Amino acid sequence: MAADLRLSDALERVKPSATIAVTTKAAELKRAGHDVIGLGAGEPDFDTPDNIKDAAIKAIRDGKTKYTPADGIPELKEAICAKFKRENGLTYTPAQIHVAPGGKPVIYNALVATLNPGDEVICPAPYWVSYPEMVLMAGGEPVKVECGQNTAYKLTPEALEAAITPKTKWLILNSPSNPTGAAYTRAELKALADVLLRHPQVWVMTDDMYEHLVYDDFEFTTIAQVEPALWDRTLTINGVSKAYAMTGWRIGYAGGPDKIIKAMGKVISQTTSNPCSISQWASVEALNGPQDFLPVMRAAYKKRRDMVVAGLNKCPGLHCPMPEGAFYVYPSCAGVLGKTAPSGNVIETDEDFARELLETEKVAVVFGAAFGLSPAFRVSYATSDAALEEALVRIQRFCEALR
Ligand SMILES: Cc1ncc(COP(=O)(O)O)c(C=O)c1O
Repeated sequence: MAADLRLSDALERVKPSATIAVTTKAAELKRAGHDVIGLGAGEPDFDTPDNIKDAAIKAIRDGKTKYTPADGIPELKEAICAKFKRENGLTYTPAQIHVAPGGKPVIYNALVATLNPGDEVICPAPYWVSYPEMVLMAGGEPVKVECGQNTAYKLTPEALEAAITPKTKWLILNSPSNPTGAAYTRAELKALADVLLRHPQVWVMTDDMYEHLVYDDFEFTTIAQVEPALWDRTLTINGVSKAYAMTGWRIGYAGGPDKIIKAMGKVISQTTSNPCSISQWASVEALNGPQDFLPVMRAAYKKRRDMVVAGLNKCPGLHCPMPEGAFYVYPSCAGVLGKTAPSGNVIETDEDFARELLETEKVAVVFGAAFGLSPAFRVSYATSDAALEEALVRIQRFCEALR
């Protein structure tokens, strides 16, 4: 008989990823022969640009296939410093850069490096599913602050002030946001920065993964750029996954003050070691090479965003704000609660809504409870125009059939 395995208390507090669960369920239905449209995944449907692929092939041929320094090769750190300077007006030296196998490990390494039991991390909700769970795994306490449609899903200075305690270690900002697409203007960031200036114990982790996906002349800015006095307690996180359609290559990075970068270097050197050498060379090309892929991708996403928001707002019971960026929208489904689905089941929660929609119309979306703000759901429009058009027809038909 197998011995009983007692899991760690830290892991017992962690929920599995709802986004991965939805993708898995949709894949199961597909395998069973159903015509499923997946709007659950947070992954660009574009291919990685050829110049980046060629740089990777060259790296293989040149024998760049060995261990590298644990937190990144000097050439990539230089490229990241140049990127931060060019695009964000931020000055970092290579010693102030951390590179890891994706944006996700960058965040995790920072949390593991800094959290002690009882330390609080403010997570404005709706949040990316992994923030509170990574905080828990690292031994901290996530503090959820709900930011609803009334504030365009954004944290206000008042709500931030009210959430800060002597135990607050980090504020996690994510702009443009997964799951809402909401992005902070320069003035909004300045107002949050003014609060933080009054609380010197609070650090800011800004997750700028979707920086390049902003529409309608929205100007992307990041908090250390808007308030340079916060530079020495800000970790500016970014990566190539979303901007260059490189999710599978696994490269994320951060710039921050020496002490935290050094501590994160200790974490990575004793855990994963370096991110893939070939992916690092590909990322040097992504950051230093031609950037003409970005406007093409942006234009395609903008068209889809407009179509999806218009389509969802035609559905009785749904209300979808127009977000500034990313490739997600986050409609409220408050208007369908209490109604009965074609299956005869009453829709009481956003989880019910997502399940009934998948079962009745074979459209996969992620329910809002997973992101900490209900009743709502996330639609990813990083999929083909044809799939989106068909999905909108099905969602509308589903909402119209509710009684
Ligand atoms: C807000 C946000 N941060 C970080 C990540 C992780 O990026 P990576 O795939 O580079 O680990 C994601 C991916 O979904 C994300 O949406």
